[in-house]
Amino acid sequence: QKYNVAVVGATGAVGKTMLDILQERQFPVAKIFPLASERSAGETIDFNKQEVMVGNLADFDFSQADIALFSAGGGVSAEYAPKAASARCVVIDNTSYFRNEQDIPLVVPEVNPQAIGEYTNSYIIANPNCSTIQMLVALAPIHRAVGITRINVATYQSVSGAGNKGIDELSEQTRSLLNFKPLKTSAFSQQIAFNVIPQIDQFQDNGYTREEMKMVWETHKILADSSIRVNPTCVRVPVFYGHAEAVHIETRDKITAAEASQILSQSPGVQLMDQPGQLEYPSPAVHAAGNDPVFVGRIREDISHEKGLNLWIVSDNIRKGAALNSVQIAENLIKILDKE
Ligand code: A2P
Repeated sequence: QKYNVAVVGATGAVGKTMLDILQERQFPVAKIFPLASERSAGETIDFNKQEVMVGNLADFDFSQADIALFSAGGGVSAEYAPKAASARCVVIDNTSYFRNEQDIPLVVPEVNPQAIGEYTNSYIIANPNCSTIQMLVALAPIHRAVGITRINVATYQSVSGAGNKGIDELSEQTRSLLNFKPLKTSAFSQQIAFNVIPQIDQFQDNGYTREEMKMVWETHKILADSSIRVNPTCVRVPVFYGHAEAVHIETRDKITAAEASQILSQSPGVQLMDQPGQLEYPSPAVHAAGNDPVFVGRIREDISHEKGLNLWIVSDNIRKGAALNSVQIAENLIKILDKE
């Protein structure tokens, strides 16, 4: 069975990659509807060797599509996802807009694929935050084995997480700095080239940023366990593609580094890259960018805590952190739809 698929935000950093991944993985697409704002409506893109015109989202009739992948910002999802859902088009939404709604499933296919069946509640499935996705692909198998009680995490997040404008800002500032020209700053709160910024998304009343709180809320929801204490610091770094995370966990039962490696070597979506003797460990630009796995290295026991374990987790935020995870949700969804 083939499906009519709409991609909302098709000209954006994530939307373009959604279109690429649908083709790479040979998703059974009958008709593709790339949609964006009126700014880019009328442009053409190639899909499965055919030219397809980008449509204006505001004019689109969602009853033409079976599935819609949304990645055009929370405001766009707030307005259009309910319209799509009421036309019985299943929305897979990459924004944070619906993630915390109780009856809307929040899914990492390697972790909680069973939640996809709940799409019938509202015809909307939420795709988690990029930092949460890669962390949980690696931590869920350890949680299942020995129970994680606490997660301390510091992220090193690339500028593509802020979309095309983040990518452009890092290139332009780098060029300006190397040419002794004045800097322009708009996508980030201060200079990002040759700098790091300890703020992603807005500050909350508790002093954490929204990006940090997403890691707390979403971990609880996806693992269906709100007893896990999560203490995040999210940092933007001058890298184009790929997020890295220094993750420090405390577990209910002791787990050794060797046991954790053994578990992760058999975990779906994970690629171990952990040979310190050969200076082998993953990094965003060299290993993650353009690739699908969640790479894990630097696995070691915490010398300051008896039941502590440290890991370095790296993945392409646009692929596994967004577009790939959405397409994997769609692949699981059509296994259900095929039977209906
Ligand atoms: P457009 O190219 O027409 O502006 P990114 O995350 O890389 O910044 O991309 C955002 C994506 O969301 C783009 O495809 C952009 O389309 C799309 N978009 C932004 N605002 C709207 C809107 N109001 N209606 C439809 N698409 C939108």
